[in-house]
Amino acid sequence: MLRTSVLRLLGRTGASRLSLLEDFGPRYYSSGFLSVGDDACDARAYFTTPIFYVNAAPHIGHLYSALLADALCRHRRLRGPSTAATRFSTGTDEHGLKIQQAAATAGLAPTELCDQVSEQFQQLFQEAGISCTDFIRTTEARHRVAVQHFWGVLKSRGLLYKGVYEGWYCASDECFLPEAKVTQQPGPSGDSFPVSLESGHPVSWTKEENYIFRLSQFREPLQRWLRGNPQAITPEPFHHVVLQWLDEELPDLSVSRRSSHLHWGIPVPGDDSQTIYVWLDALVNYLTVIGYPNAEFKSWWPATSHIIGKDILKFHAIYWPAFLLGAGMSPPQRIYVHSHWTVCGQKMSKSLGNVVDPRTCLNRYTVDGFRYFLLRQGVPNWDCDYYDEKVVKLLNSELADALGGLLNRCTAKRINPSETYPAFCTTCFPSEPGLVGPSVRAQAEDYALVSAVATLPKQVADHYDNFQIYKALEAVSSCVRQTNGFVQRHAPWKLNWESPVDAPWLGTVLHVALECLRVFGTLLQPVTPSLADKLLSRLGVSASERSLGELYFLPRFYGHPCPFEGRRLGPETGLLFPRLDRSRTWLVKAHRT
Ligand code: MSP
Repeated sequence: MLRTSVLRLLGRTGASRLSLLEDFGPRYYSSGFLSVGDDACDARAYFTTPIFYVNAAPHIGHLYSALLADALCRHRRLRGPSTAATRFSTGTDEHGLKIQQAAATAGLAPTELCDQVSEQFQQLFQEAGISCTDFIRTTEARHRVAVQHFWGVLKSRGLLYKGVYEGWYCASDECFLPEAKVTQQPGPSGDSFPVSLESGHPVSWTKEENYIFRLSQFREPLQRWLRGNPQAITPEPFHHVVLQWLDEELPDLSVSRRSSHLHWGIPVPGDDSQTIYVWLDALVNYLTVIGYPNAEFKSWWPATSHIIGKDILKFHAIYWPAFLLGAGMSPPQRIYVHSHWTVCGQKMSKSLGNVVDPRTCLNRYTVDGFRYFLLRQGVPNWDCDYYDEKVVKLLNSELADALGGLLNRCTAKRINPSETYPAFCTTCFPSEPGLVGPSVRAQAEDYALVSAVATLPKQVADHYDNFQIYKALEAVSSCVRQTNGFVQRHAPWKLNWESPVDAPWLGTVLHVALECLRVFGTLLQPVTPSLADKLLSRLGVSASERSLGELYFLPRFYGHPCPFEGRRLGPETGLLFPRLDRSRTWLVKAHRT
């Protein structure tokens, strides 16, 4: 019935024809309810962040990686089904030349440096509400067991041989580089020194007898995997880049270093003179967490989604799947890649002194505020620039004014004196648009609002699937604006509860706005968990009514009972999000030219 009526509406408004037609696809309206609770989802899902180097304190880029994974995982949990299990791991990458050198420079034993910085990451993630189920440190005994076992499997399958490796090594990036990826950089006193073309970090010439992995054997299997799984690497341009890399020659890879040179790592089983290459060590963390080498790991692998930054794509999209295939295992299901945060147009670096401390930001902008900012502004395909004014502007306009203002307008005592979810009147707002009659008050724009909010959960879910959380938030924000427009249009403050003509429409306007807010609160849970909790609690939505499977928007419009109608709102707990003061001293100012 609704579909027919919407088509009738389309006949009147040519401009909005296409978007409405898409919104009202029959899939979502078979029952008149919208639900993106997902019974078809695999029962298990395992999300991972990269494990973070402990050579320096965490910065906002690290937090961003963890937040993306957190939001994806929280959204997955919200989606259900209730029997689904999720696992979410993060941790610290503590071995290798980079850490060995950083500890020496700091005058600390490597274990001391690792303990100190790993603790900083753990504290940051706890403060930022990262809902990880596991935190791994590569210096743990369980990890050494997993790495050495994995090594043994590769060895037993004939994939490791001894040979001489000669070439450039970049300790900062912990990677080997071909001649073509190295350039000379002028030094301060006129001399020059070799650096990596990609990262600009210094490189040094190495010649050693090492264990070598037969990576070249995996070029075709990797191409087959990627061509057969077009969604393996998201966003698509990164998938494309990896296929391009695979068009070129794929040389074998040195996977150990002489222990006399690199002692801070896991020894090669049966050959203490060699230490396992830190990237092989680090990548296996994803297996250690799920219990490898015990068989229990098989219930989580390969239902895995790795969230990584673009700088470590080659390690995750070429080396790691090749190691896994070599060990007789499947590559991960999905690799989500994000770009980087710059600060006032420059790369963040200790030497430039422009590193933005995430804990200061969480304090200054609140946990939910800063989570919202990073996820709303961060676009995986491109680098994003950070400066403080941008944070204040965004949070004031979208969280304090638009969302907070909307909640306030619908719950304030002066407009909603009974502090309840008022009744929806089907005569004032019939499900059949275009009807005319003395009590019909809804207008074409109101049907457009209902359509937009009804399809929002599905749109948001699609954006999450495509790793476009910023688009999911943009869509929510646009619906918040539309709902404010709806309230503004009908000005409930001008209607009178005492008037038998006004009262049913006044209740309906508030009911619709509260239903929209309930959808926004539910959908914001993965990004701003405390703010969403505050919002939903104010609306009187109980904990068991907050999953996507339970999200039946505006049921009375579709002829179904509404469990919220007549329910008392939750207690008033003050502003949803406080406006931020622009006059404060900024951490980082935008450059003005
Ligand atoms: N230890 C390796 C990962 C091993 S995973 C098996 C590593 N560590 S890292 O600390 O250098 O980087 C961790 C993550 O932070 C990476 O995904 C990286 O892309 C991300 N970021 C580092 N700087 C960043 C920005 N400026 N902006 C966004 N993310 C950034 O690589």
